[in-house]
Amino acid sequence: TKIAIFASGSGSNFQAIQEAIERGELDAKVEVVVTDRPNAFVVTRAENFGIPVHTFTAKTYESKEAYETEIVTLLRDKNVEWIVLAGYMRLIGDTLLSSYTNRIVNIHPSLLPSFPGKDAIGQALAHGVKVTGVTVHLVDEGMDTGPILAQAAVEVVDGNREETETRIHALEHELYTKTLKQLFEK
Ligand code: GRF
Repeated sequence: TKIAIFASGSGSNFQAIQEAIERGELDAKVEVVVTDRPNAFVVTRAENFGIPVHTFTAKTYESKEAYETEIVTLLRDKNVEWIVLAGYMRLIGDTLLSSYTNRIVNIHPSLLPSFPGKDAIGQALAHGVKVTGVTVHLVDEGMDTGPILAQAAVEVVDGNREETETRIHALEHELYTKTLKQLFEK
């Protein structure tokens, strides 16, 4: 299965997916990493794996449609079948959605529909929840909406942010790989 990873940040989920592929646990190939942040650490990670990176700066385009059209052209050229969002901090627009309908997957660090949007872990802690978690879902036009594919829970111990973050990220890496495997085997 040919995939594109979209990321804006550290890229630890990208790395976990790529390592699962290299271990032979996930039958997929990352054709390109797409990022809107040229300085994000995900770019270094991709380079270390020898994976091509497509960088764009949204504000230099006339519209979302303009940069998404460029991305769709690139993905089509590479025969990409699935888009895997891994810390991509932009809402997916009509252009990508209509070209990859039900073929875009996202991971979010909460038990959706609780705490969509930015800093989900901070939102959950501020609310004082005792259990939070991770959700993998298909992407639609909303922010962290779309059909849920998988979830896993994490206990919040003493409202500790660092501990909760560590647990969530470890769980994300495991759940994303597992869910993608199921999705691609269908
Ligand atoms: C993850 O927590 C993911 O759930 C969220 O953004 C974060 C990305 O982390 N959407 P990383 O860049 O994969 O390390």
